[in-house]
Amino acid sequence: MAILVTGGAGYIGSHTVVELENAGYDVVVCDNLSNSSKKSLERVAEITGKEVKFYYADIRDHEKMTEIFEKEKIDSVIHFAGLKSVGESVAKPWEYYENNISGTLVLLDVMKKHGCKNMIFSSSATVYGDPAFVPITEDCPKGQCTNPYGWTKSMLEQILSDIQKADNEWNIVLLRYFNPIGAHKSGLIGENPNGIPNNLMPYVTQVAVGKIPYLGVFGNDYDTHDGTGVRDYIHVVDLAKGHVKAIAKIEEKCGLKVYNLGTGNGYSVLDIVKNFEEATGVKVPYKIMPRRPGDVAECYASADKAYRELGWKAENGIREMCEDAWRWQKNNPNGFDD
Ligand code: NAD
Ligand code: WQD
Repeated sequence: MAILVTGGAGYIGSHTVVELENAGYDVVVCDNLSNSSKKSLERVAEITGKEVKFYYADIRDHEKMTEIFEKEKIDSVIHFAGLKSVGESVAKPWEYYENNISGTLVLLDVMKKHGCKNMIFSSSATVYGDPAFVPITEDCPKGQCTNPYGWTKSMLEQILSDIQKADNEWNIVLLRYFNPIGAHKSGLIGENPNGIPNNLMPYVTQVAVGKIPYLGVFGNDYDTHDGTGVRDYIHVVDLAKGHVKAIAKIEEKCGLKVYNLGTGNGYSVLDIVKNFEEATGVKVPYKIMPRRPGDVAECYASADKAYRELGWKAENGIREMCEDAWRWQKNNPNGFDD
């Protein structure tokens, strides 16, 4: 039996394919390559020594998804496929709702018709909105999202919960990721944003490599230890390993489960700059800018539930996250186009 990884050519997906293969699972990837390159899977094969079974497919394409389920014996799905740019989602809400929500509904229909009722879903800390408290436990009420991307995650959590409630043969694990950064130690795979990055770490590495002159720090007047925004950065390989643990949970027929995947530690923007400079020896010039609309002051997880119930905890610290992000960027200044 195999695990279907939708969006498996992307940043988190490619790292998860490595960890699934390392753990001995059979993996099938489908991706429409709208935000990724097939080269990432060639690199995955270089790391694991095993070709990745790949389907060029859009999750919204019922016929193509049916073909995959007819050809492969899919036991569980890890569902990464989706559009993820916060700013773009504000400008193109229809595209985000259509791709993320309609796509997931098609996928769920094909799964159900083939008797496959196990799914791990990529959710996000964004569903907590401006969190009611920190560290954020899974009991923290979901909040008001500030953009359509966030709403697609919040709504899909609701849809998946309702489907599981109506039919308890479904096993669904909602994984709420905090801020994934870093890259595989090999330096062969990593985050490959299109154009100017939106997220902090790819921005920092592109400043460090000389592609962008300085980092804009979005606000230094938050109620945090140095006034800049605090987040829970998590190494992408630790995040990927969390999915292997979640698959084991699904195999126990777990029903509906929700877990935060974070480290439990909060770092500010200036902490990241300092740690990056210390880890790499490269200076990151920055300028203080106005706050970015929609940003919250602090967002970091309580990672206790994932430890208690999945036996998972993040192993890499901030230094490794910075070193590994930098190795990837330095070795591949143009991502997979090098
Ligand atoms: P990514 O863009 O690198 O990967 C997503 C992949 O899905 C891409 O390879 C893209 O080509 C593919 N895809 C998009 N729409 C598709 C469709 N209709 N059919 C088939 N493939 C499609 O993003 P990522 O950072 O690896 O994120 C993976 C998942 O985790 C996403 O669902 C994202 O929303 C979620 N997530 C990401 C973060 C983050 O900060 N990176 C945080 C929380 C949650
Ligand atoms: C981190 C901190 C910024 C860029 C986003 C999504 C969230 C999730 C993860 C998918 C903040 C500051 C950033 C820059 C800066 N994705 N910053 N200068 O906003 O916590 O979360 O990615 O689900 O949904 O919203 O991450 O990396 O954009 O920002 O000062 O150029 O860095 O203000 O404090 P964020 P981020």
